[in-house]
Amino acid sequence: MKIAIIGTGNIGSTLARGWAKTGHDIFLGVRDLNNFKGKALLSQKNISAHHIPEAVSKAEVILISVPPNVIPFVVSYLKEAEEKVIIDPTNSFRSKPEGFENGFDALTRLTSCKHIVKAFNNTGFENMIHPAGLDTFVSGDSEKAKKIVVQLAKDLGFANCYDFGGSDKAALQEQLGMAWINLALIQGMGRNIAINVVKR
Ligand SMILES: NC(=O)c1ccc[n+]([C@@H]2O[C@H](COP(=O)([O-])OP(=O)(O)OC[C@H]3O[C@@H](n4cnc5c(N)ncnc54)[C@H](OP(=O)(O)O)[C@@H]3O)[C@@H](O)[C@H]2O)c1
Repeated sequence: MKIAIIGTGNIGSTLARGWAKTGHDIFLGVRDLNNFKGKALLSQKNISAHHIPEAVSKAEVILISVPPNVIPFVVSYLKEAEEKVIIDPTNSFRSKPEGFENGFDALTRLTSCKHIVKAFNNTGFENMIHPAGLDTFVSGDSEKAKKIVVQLAKDLGFANCYDFGGSDKAALQEQLGMAWINLALIQGMGRNIAINVVKR
């Protein structure tokens, strides 16, 4: 697929690298083409850098991997993206979009995008480099978009990508990310832990 990444830091770079390896075309959307996090990605096949509007226009799927408080500014790039799949991996831990419950709430209320999916927020970026054996989740109202994101999770190597429900479950899914942050960072278990579904 053609995937734009807005926010090329820890999570954006990790997912860009993983998807490019499995043949997806990655368009990094950056503010300054000469100076941005993850510039080293350009040595990899299938990855190119563009100004954000150009990256968005080239893509079918757009990952919004920015700090949550930045989302109200980034939405200006999504005016022509009503029919594209928008992935929100943000957790409002260190920052929050002002006036909104979380990033998903801001994306839903500030854009007319019909295919917004909460995904890739339930563990640290290091675990997404080799996610074999790990579970992840998607929520959102667009079944079509969730199907695409489930496949993208499988392409990265996640063991399972469970449907967490509609848009009304996105905040609950964010709490799963917050639970990981609590265990890993606040309770001190370390970033090499993950939360899985165990069937008995
Ligand atoms: N880190 C994790 O393990 C992890 C796991 C799950 C979810 N998340 C979520 O993923 C999001 C990103 O986290 P991260 O750790 O990857 O952050 P990060 O490494 O600090 O990267 C943030 C990126 O956002 C870009 N950015 C900042 N302000 C921007 C703006 N106004 N317009 C466009 N781009 C802007 C930065 O661009 P420049 O390169 O130009 O500075 C940078 O590429 C957060 O919401 C976090 O909750 C993170």
